[in-house]
Amino acid sequence: MTTSLPHLLKVSDLDSERLLSLLESAIALKADPAAADGCGRGRSVAILFEKPSLRTRFSLEAALAATGAHPVGAYDQEVGIGTREDVTDVGRVLGRYVAAIAMRTFDHARLEQLAGAAGVPVINALSDTHHPLQALADLMTIAEHSCGGDVASLRGLPVAWVGDGNNVANSLIEACALAGCLLRVACPAGFEPEPGLEQWASERGAVVTLGHDPAAAVEGAAAVYTDVWASMGREHEAGARARVFEPYRVTPELMGRADPDAIFLHCLPAHRGQEVSASVIDGPASRVIDQAENRMHTALALFVRLFREE
Ligand code: CP
Ligand code: NVA
Repeated sequence: MTTSLPHLLKVSDLDSERLLSLLESAIALKADPAAADGCGRGRSVAILFEKPSLRTRFSLEAALAATGAHPVGAYDQEVGIGTREDVTDVGRVLGRYVAAIAMRTFDHARLEQLAGAAGVPVINALSDTHHPLQALADLMTIAEHSCGGDVASLRGLPVAWVGDGNNVANSLIEACALAGCLLRVACPAGFEPEPGLEQWASERGAVVTLGHDPAAAVEGAAAVYTDVWASMGREHEAGARARVFEPYRVTPELMGRADPDAIFLHCLPAHRGQEVSASVIDGPASRVIDQAENRMHTALALFVRLFREE
C-alpha cells in the first residue's frame, strides 16, 4: 500500500532513519516522559482489539495518557468489524472522530483496508503476520542493554531468533534489517518467516540468515529471542507444534552458546517449560520485563511523532 499518511502496518513502513530516530526518541522519553508535553491534548485515538492483549493495549493507553490524548477502545466483537460493519465503513467513520486508529486483528489485509479508508494514520497492534510495535520495543531493549543506549551501535550486532517464524519474527527481521543488526533465525522446517523477507533485507545491505539449527543461530549472539510455539488463533495446533518445536526450546545450555553478556528476550505472554526454560526467562540474562516496559516508551515516541507531525 502506498500512501503519504504515516501508517505503521509493518516496520518496513519506516526507513532506517525514521526507525532509529523513533528509538532515540523513546530512550529520551523514558528518561523524561514530561517531554511529551501535552502534544495529544484534545485528540482521541481509537483502539480496536479483536484478540486478547495485556502489554499492547495498556502500553498504548498509558502512552496516550502521557500525551494528554484520549483513547477510545472497543474489544472483541463490540464493533462487529466484517460482520456488523464493513471494515472500510469503520475506517471512514472513525476517521471523522479520531486522530489515529490502532487495531489488533487476525488478517493483515483487514488493516490495509482500514488504512486505505480511514484518512488518519493506522497502527498495527498485531496481525497474524506483523507486530511492528513489538519490534520497536525489542530494538530499544537491545540498544539499552548491549549498546549503552546508542542506537547506531545496533549495526553489526548479532541477534538470534529461535522458534516460530511468526508475526513477531517477521517484524524483528524488518527492524533488524533497517537497524543493521546481524539477525540469525532458526525455526523448524515449514515454520519459516514470511517468504521474501531475507531477500528484502539483503537488498538493503542487511544480513539476515534463515536456518534450522538453534545452536548455530545463537552462537556468540548478543540477544536471544523466542516467542510462543502456537500464536493466538493457532491454539488448536499446539499439540502438534510442541512435538516439532521441542529442539527449539531456549534452555540454559542453548543460552550458554551466546555471548557471555547476552540477554534473553520474549515478547510475552510466555509458556515456561515450552519455548523457554523457567531458569532462563526468570534468570539473570532475562530482560523480558524491561522489554515489556519499553512497549510504553516506544508507543509514546510514536504518538509524539504522530501528533507533532500532523
Ligand atoms: N507482547 C504483546 O504484544 O503482548 P500482548 O499480547 O499482551 O499485547
Ligand atoms: N506470536 C504471538 C505474539 C503475542 C504477543 C501471537 O500472535 O499470539
